[in-house]
Amino acid sequence: MNLAIVGLQWGDEGKGKIVDYLARSFDINARFQGGSNAGHTVRYEGEKVIFHQVPCGVLNRNTTGVIGGGCVLDPKILLEEIGNLTKYDPAIRERIKISKFCHLIMPYHILIDEIREGTKQAIGTTKKGIGVAYEDKYGRTGLRVGDLYNIESFEKKLCLNISRKNLVLMDVYHAEPLSDSEIFDLYMKYADELKPMVADDTRIVSQAMNAGKNVLFEGAQGAMLDVDYGTYPYVTSSHTVASSVGIGLGIPPYSVESVVGVAKAYTTRVGQGPFPTEDSGELGSLLRESGAEFGSTTGRPRRCGPFDAAVVRYAARISGVKEMILTKLDVLAGFDKIRVAIGYENSDELDPFATELLVPRYIEVPGFKEDISGVRSPDDLPSNVLNYIHVIEENTGIRVSHISLGPERDAIVEM
Ligand code: GDP
Ligand code: IMO
Ligand code: MG
Repeated sequence: MNLAIVGLQWGDEGKGKIVDYLARSFDINARFQGGSNAGHTVRYEGEKVIFHQVPCGVLNRNTTGVIGGGCVLDPKILLEEIGNLTKYDPAIRERIKISKFCHLIMPYHILIDEIREGTKQAIGTTKKGIGVAYEDKYGRTGLRVGDLYNIESFEKKLCLNISRKNLVLMDVYHAEPLSDSEIFDLYMKYADELKPMVADDTRIVSQAMNAGKNVLFEGAQGAMLDVDYGTYPYVTSSHTVASSVGIGLGIPPYSVESVVGVAKAYTTRVGQGPFPTEDSGELGSLLRESGAEFGSTTGRPRRCGPFDAAVVRYAARISGVKEMILTKLDVLAGFDKIRVAIGYENSDELDPFATELLVPRYIEVPGFKEDISGVRSPDDLPSNVLNYIHVIEENTGIRVSHISLGPERDAIVEM
């Protein structure tokens, strides 16, 4: 069975924890989009491990991690990440494959992203150079992992790119120009370190599928950050919805046999942009505090608010989600009443062109006081928790297959 895991809100739904939990029964765990902007948290041997580019199922010794060609790759961050992971498994490098088709994130992408974030163009990016790297990819001037091994042509393309970027840096942003020789030397060093892991993802994944192996596709970000179907322009620069799997790994669209969505039991967003159920008062602060809602990549406080069923309905429709995993339900303990948005004034459905203007229509659901973080069977769940899950299923039209009740791998209940 090949399964895709995608976020149904604005990212940080808890995809990392779910992928780590599920990966035990998968031979391959593949990322298909995004880059070091992602921050997927896993608890392993009591420690908090944050994955940015490595698929987070690789801590399972039988799972190979593939970074697909649809991703953008920052070698510096990747090598640091792999270095940290060798603490848990000295042989982890042998189970990590990097597509030669991946576009490289270069120091000028990061610099330009950082500079733009200080201007009126700011949207609250992670400043990892993601948008600028994808601009170069689609502008057909990008450098790919595979280019690192054709040294002469890499140097030529790099120098041309740097001369163009230096014009922008100096004339538009009045910044210092970059040195091409320093960047060239650095990337040649990365090339050597990456080489044993560089592969053709299109072959690895299709051969595995043909051999009847199981592949778990790991989405980054969430549907509302999709470059086309999210809250544009306050989005990331890749496709975060399930259709992105085929393109991001060079495999046919029918490779994905099932799509499971991950949604938080409330809503969060980090960075700027519309967020209809945002609560900038007491509820928002309480959720941020109890849910430890601070960005895994940037440490920024996440904006918080009630669950928005219309957002999840929209996201589930686009990705073809039939089942979802509801995370962080434990965080909602202690409220007398919990609000759930079921639609908006003037419209039942989400229109991403009009999200700034949407006023949510809420229903109120009875809360629960019990600490449910230790519950492992649906039979032990308080009736108000079961009712909350039921309300979410009713209003999203999606069955909740599991609930997550804590950051640890085993803090999960199959419903
Ligand atoms: P991702 O980007 O979707 O992988 O999510 P993040 O890792 O950025 O953010 C989710 C945060 O919630 C992490 O700190 C997780 O350890 C934590 N987490 C995941 N599931 C649960 C849960 O069910 N309950 C609680 N309390 N924390 C959780
Ligand atoms: P995971 O995979 C939450 C947001 C940024 C910003 C916008 C564009 O951990 O769920 P970018 O750096 O991608 O150009 O920023 O997208 N963003 C995320 N928000 N979780 C993420 O990833 C995110 N990756 C990017 O905050 O609003
Ligand atoms: Mg995250």
